[in-house]
Amino acid sequence: MAVELHEITEDNVGDVFDLKVAPGQEEFVSTNPWSLAQAYAERDIAWPRAIVADGEVVGFLMLEIDPEEENGRPYWLWRLMLDAAHQRQGHGGAALALALEHLRSLGAEELFTSWVPGEGSPEGFYLRLGFVPTGELDDDEIVARLDLSPT
Ligand SMILES: CC(C)(COP(=O)(O)OP(=O)(O)OC[C@H]1O[C@@H](n2cnc3c(N)ncnc32)[C@H](O)[C@@H]1OP(=O)(O)O)[C@@H](O)C(=O)NCCC(=O)NCCS
Repeated sequence: MAVELHEITEDNVGDVFDLKVAPGQEEFVSTNPWSLAQAYAERDIAWPRAIVADGEVVGFLMLEIDPEEENGRPYWLWRLMLDAAHQRQGHGGAALALALEHLRSLGAEELFTSWVPGEGSPEGFYLRLGFVPTGELDDDEIVARLDLSPT
């Protein structure tokens, strides 16, 4: 199934707005209405994208790209979610792979993210993709790093 990342436009913003994770997953990711508001408020450094599979909007991904980031880490995966009906079909992994292509084209050598631990957490997803916990906590979230340097 072909997965693509599309810019947020007037044609797809309503579809992104309506996507929802499964019951019980709400604690792991902000709602898309909130994320879209954040993307607007921080538009200089946010890279929000609709995840599209075979022409259908199935998820949302947002990077932070900020060379001026005070913490010295310019590239963060701020948000990743797949609608409940479209999870565990490889779309999350495929969407992240496309985001990594973009980051590499910018010369990024590492990507950071963080997740809420516990039952139902996306931890297994991120560990499988190669993220390594740094040992830091950010508001009780586990901070992790993915090495993007050429092997
Ligand atoms: C986490 C999430 C983005 C993964 O996307 P996805 O499209 O469902 O994942 P994929 O199908 O690409 O998964 C690839 C592999 O990652 C692992 N995986 C996926 N979701 C997982 C989860 N919730 N917990 C543990 N492992 C998971 C599995 O090993 C999976 O392979 P398998 O289905 O063959 O076992 C999606 O489940 C989601 O939106 N969850 C709710 C929101 C969330 O937690 N977002 C992350 C915020 S930090």
